[in-house]
Parts: sequence; C-alpha cells; structure tokens
Amino acid sequence: MKLLISVLLSLFLNVINVNSQIYTSNWTSINSRPLPSWYDSVKFGIFIHFGVYSVPAYSDGGYAEWYWWNLESGDDNNSTKQWHGEHFGPNFKYQDFAPMFNCRDFNANDWASIIDKSGAKYVVLTSKHHEGYTLWPSEQSWGWNSVDVGPNRDIVAELTKAVKNLGLHMGLYHSLFEWFNPFYLSDKSSGNPPTKEEYVDTVLMPQLMDIVNSYEPHVIWADGDWEQASDYWKSTDFLSWLYTNSSVKDVVVVNDRWGHGCRNTNGGFFTGSDAWLPNKLIDHKWENCETIGFSYGYDQFEPAKAYTNSTILIQKFSQTVSCGGNFLLDIGPDAEGTIPINMQNTLLDIGYWLQINGESIYDSSPWRVQNQTSSIWYTTNKSNGAIYALVFEYPESGQLLLNDPICNSNSQVNLLGFKSASKITIQLPKSNDQPGITLNLPFASPQDYPPFVYVFKLVGCN
Ligand SMILES: *[C@@H]1O[C@H](CO)[C@@H](O)[C@H](O)[C@H]1NC(C)=O
Ligand SMILES: *[C@@H]1O[C@H](CO)[C@@H](O)[C@H](O)[C@H]1NC(C)=O
Ligand SMILES: *[C@@H]1O[C@H](CO)[C@@H](O)[C@H](O)[C@H]1NC(C)=O
Ligand SMILES: *[C@@H]1O[C@H](CO)[C@@H](O)[C@H](O)[C@H]1NC(C)=O
Ligand SMILES: *[C@@H]1O[C@H](CO)[C@@H](O)[C@H](O)[C@H]1NC(C)=O
Ligand SMILES: *[C@@H]1O[C@H](CO)[C@@H](O)[C@H](O)[C@H]1NC(C)=O
Ligand SMILES: *[C@@H]1O[C@H](CO)[C@@H](O)[C@H](O)[C@H]1NC(C)=O
Repeated sequence: MKLLISVLLSLFLNVINVNSQIYTSNWTSINSRPLPSWYDSVKFGIFIHFGVYSVPAYSDGGYAEWYWWNLESGDDNNSTKQWHGEHFGPNFKYQDFAPMFNCRDFNANDWASIIDKSGAKYVVLTSKHHEGYTLWPSEQSWGWNSVDVGPNRDIVAELTKAVKNLGLHMGLYHSLFEWFNPFYLSDKSSGNPPTKEEYVDTVLMPQLMDIVNSYEPHVIWADGDWEQASDYWKSTDFLSWLYTNSSVKDVVVVNDRWGHGCRNTNGGFFTGSDAWLPNKLIDHKWENCETIGFSYGYDQFEPAKAYTNSTILIQKFSQTVSCGGNFLLDIGPDAEGTIPINMQNTLLDIGYWLQINGESIYDSSPWRVQNQTSSIWYTTNKSNGAIYALVFEYPESGQLLLNDPICNSNSQVNLLGFKSASKITIQLPKSNDQPGITLNLPFASPQDYPPFVYVFKLVGCN
C-alpha cells in the first residue's frame, strides 16, 4: 500500500514537473513563454476606469483620470485648475474627493451581468491608477484605498467574485508609477536612472504580489511605465515569479507596458499606443484598448457627439480581430458606481451583434488576406475552413464582389442573421480556380438586414 502511494505520488509529481516551467528574470526567458490559449480565443474584453477621478469626472479634452495631474499644473490658466477653483474653491485638495467616491449604487453583480450581455469574456479593472488610490485594501496605500476612505468596500474583491461567478476572466490594471508618491519622487531625484529603488521595493512589488495572491487575476495590465526602464521597475523579477511560482502561472496573461522601450517588444500581448488599430496583420498577439467616448475615466461633460456609435465600434472590433488583435473596450462608471446608460446601450448592442455573428469572432484566426478595401475584412475558422467576410456597407446594388476567395461549384454562402427567405448565390469566375467571386443577393428590405456589420460566411472556399 505504501509502495503504491509512493508510486502514485511520484507519477503525480512527475506530471507537475513536466508542466512546470521555470522562467528566469530576463526578457529572453520571459518572452519565451507561450501565451495561454484562452486569451486569443475570447477576442473581447471590457476595460474599467474607476477611481477618485470618477468624482470630479471632468476633463479639459484629455483623459478625466489625469485630473490630479492637471490640477497640479503650474499654469494658473489651466482649464482643470480653473474649473476646480470655480466649483470647489482653491483650498479643496484632490484628496478631498475621496470621501465623495461613495459607490453607493455599485453592485458588482449588475456590472458583471451587463458585461456578460456584451459578449465580452474578460474584464480589466483599474486596481490602481496613477493617482495611487487603490480599489482594494492595500497595506502599502494606507488611508488611500477604497476600504479606508470612500466607499469602505473592497471593490476589487466584489467585482472579481461577480465576474468569476459568470465564468468570465477577471483581470487587473496596475499603474507602475504614482505621480506624487513621496518614495517614487525621492527615487526619481536620486539620479537618472534612479540609484535607489525604495518605491519599487516597498510599494510596487508588494502590491503586485498582493493582488496576484489575493485575487488571482487572469490578466495583469501594467501601465505608467514610461518614465523608467524595466530594470528600475524590476519587471522581470515580478514576471518570473508570476510565470513560475504564482497560483495563476498557467493562466495569467500580461501586456507589454513594463518599462520604457518595452511596448511592442517585451512581455505578453502588445498594446502599442492607446486605441491602437494597426490595420495590418501583426505577427504577435496584440490588443486594442478602445474607448466609447474619448476619456477612459468618466467625463460627465462629454457630449453625445463625442461618443462613437455602435456601428463604428463594431467596425473597429472587426478590423482588430481580422488583424489578430483582441478588443478591450473601456467603460467609465460614475462615482456612485453606475455605468452611464449610453455605455450600457453600446455594450448591449455589441452583445446583440455577437449573438448573431459570434462565430466569425470567437476562436477565429486571421485569414490569408486581412481586407479587400477599408470596409471589407476577413476572419476564418481554422478548424473547419469557413471564411467570414465582415462587410461595413450593405450591398444595395444586390451584388458584392469579393476579390480574394477561391470558390467552386460546391461552395456555399450565407449572410448571418439575414431574414430574407431567398438564397444568396455565388457567381464564379469564368475559369476554374481563379480568385474572385460575385455574390448575388436577393431583393430585401432594410428590416431584413442584420444589424451593424454584415457577415458573409463562405463554406468550401479557400
Ligand atoms: C536568461 O535566462 C536564460 C534561462 O535561465 C539563460 O539561459 C540566459 O542566458 C539568460 N539571458 C541573459 C541575457 O541573461
Ligand atoms: C493643464 O495642465 C496639464 C498638465 O501640465 C496639461 O497636460 C494640460 O494640457 C493642461 N490643459 C490645458 C487646457 O492647457
Ligand atoms: C493666462 O490668461 C491671461 C488672460 O487671458 C493671460 O493674460 C495670461 O498671459 C495667461 N497666462 C499664461 C501663463 O498663459
Ligand atoms: C519559484 O519556483 C522555482 C522552481 O520551483 C524555485 O526554484 C524558486 O525558489 C521559487 N521562487 C520563489 C520566490 O518562490
Ligand atoms: C455612426 O457614426 C458614423 C460616423 O459619425 C455615421 O456616419 C453613421 O451614420 C452613424 N450611424 C448611426 C446608425 O447613427
Ligand atoms: C469552428 O469550427 C469547428 C469545427 O467545425 C467548430 O467545432 C467550432 O464551433 C467553430 N467555431 C466557432 C466559433 O463557431
Ligand atoms: C485595408 O484597410 C486599411 C485601413 O482602412 C487601408 O489603409 C488599406 O488600404 C486596406 N487594404 C486594402 C488592400 O484595401
């Protein structure tokens, strides 16, 4: 019996050994890790910017989450400073907004449910933005976190639980730097590059390990990286621990914002610039973090015309996926914890579109051609060879010319969600095996058209 147990135990340990890979603290090693497969297959996530900046919810045309930075601007004419003075008086400090961050209507299950209805499969919440205020009770941010001041709630814990309950992946954004953290400012003044790393050792590293150990996020989305090289941030130390030792080592995915010069070079998926839409195939997994309005954090003065409509957003989503990217769409809830209604409507629109067209998105791969024009884009299902043409304008003429698919007399086509009873037919080129087909659509009235972006599914073509 003892022998049997020890044999089984050693078999078990062997299995563990086979699966456990050791990553060391250098970029060559970190970059060699394969991307956990869930991330590429899900394609769509929701970014959430939520913090003390959600209280003033004001921006001078930039990002509302930069309010404190703008407030400290040396220029007395600065519009944030002016607006702040008019509304709160010159003696009202940014920190005084924290008690007003009450989140009294925040219901994590409601947020998770709206996100789930959008068809998104992962969430990335700002655990800490550049202001340093944390949405969990961080010991390194005493008196400046959501349990000590503001809602007196652990927002990260509540949302993590609600999101995981619906079977979605929960992720956390974390700013490496803090504009006004005294330890960071002191490190920065020690030299360039800094000769001491007190902020990293006593604040950043304990916080990163804390959020991983406490909440087991499936995404760590670093930002605020650009002032220092990754050596200062000790990014590879953290990532080697994350990939080798943490409880999420097999599932966690990270981005590329780990230090000056890391973007599109080091880490996990690439993010380029904010709202990056390269419109060509990128041969490394990447992500487009888009906004619905302009600001990531809630800006209560953003007018209707600043918001992109669902049609355009679904077009950008299609372009992103065609080129191998994931779409991370941002919402900015208000300080009461309500997701603005127009943002909710956008999420529901995307969810409706995905219910009809999800097979062209989830688990899809880029096709050999990404686009024919700026309004015809492709994806493919590699397992069964189906090709999807995502078309932005309805072919009112009744004909759609696709230049690149090679079809034959057995090929089939349909328009997903098309209500017309009559079939679409394929007109082949005059000689066999030539690329290029014409789709002949039956007459249909606009109420028969599917919503937003029109997805033609081609079977038996290549
Ligand atoms: C990085 O780590 C790997 C694995 O330990 C090692 O083989 C390699 O020499 C290291 N590279 C550098 C540049 O230190
Ligand atoms: C206000 O100051 C900030 C910080 O210096 C700056 O980024 C922003 O552009 C300024 N706003 C205006 C309208 O000048
Ligand atoms: C601020 O605005 C006033 C009035 O428009 C102008 O006279 C002054 O030069 C401005 N100051 C700066 C620093 O731009
Ligand atoms: C991480 O795991 C490796 C391999 O099991 C081990 O050698 C190393 O000591 C661990 N590091 C930490 C910080 O636990
Ligand atoms: C969406 O916005 C685009 C660009 O502003 C506009 O051309 C289009 O008509 C809008 N679509 C709807 C349905 O409002
Ligand atoms: C892709 O094709 C495979 C094989 O037919 C199928 O099981 C899978 O459901 C398809 N993917 C999607 C998202 O429809
Ligand atoms: C693909 O789309 C991009 C962005 O709209 C455009 O610049 C490019 O010309 C398109 N490619 C083709 C082959 O039309």
